[in-house]
Amino acid sequence: MNHEQIKALTKAAIEAGQAAYAPYSAFKVGAALLTACGEIITGCNVEIGGYASSCCAERVAIYKAVSGGKRAFAAVAIAGGPDSGLVADCFPCGVCRQVLAEFCGDDLIVIVAESGEKWREFTLGELFPHRFAENV
Ligand code: THU
Repeated sequence: MNHEQIKALTKAAIEAGQAAYAPYSAFKVGAALLTACGEIITGCNVEIGGYASSCCAERVAIYKAVSGGKRAFAAVAIAGGPDSGLVADCFPCGVCRQVLAEFCGDDLIVIVAESGEKWREFTLGELFPHRFAENV
């Protein structure tokens, strides 16, 4: 992915976070998935009283994509933080890493963004090595 493509995906993640429903943590997260066809599908975190039913931005994006028939992805960008601003380390949680690994290979690019101009780039293999899979 080139710089402009990453920038566009990061921008989509930041914008998606504006729709976050996070009345309990006050920590809003946006995620933007790039499908293999070049489409961008976004998600935000949605929190529910009692917490157990809450869902992270990455999983909302993946579930939206899969329910729309998309299962092949090239990259995901994530950005989140309190109202005062985005944090540098909004990494996907363990559950989201497992969900990403269900549909994506170790080569999925994971962008952890701090702003529209500043981000770090990882692969899913780096963030989630030795994944569990029954179908190996
Ligand atoms: N959260 C996400 O949506 N994605 C992440 O990558 C990290 C955490 C959400 C879960 C919860 O709604 C809030 O951020 C605070 O943990």
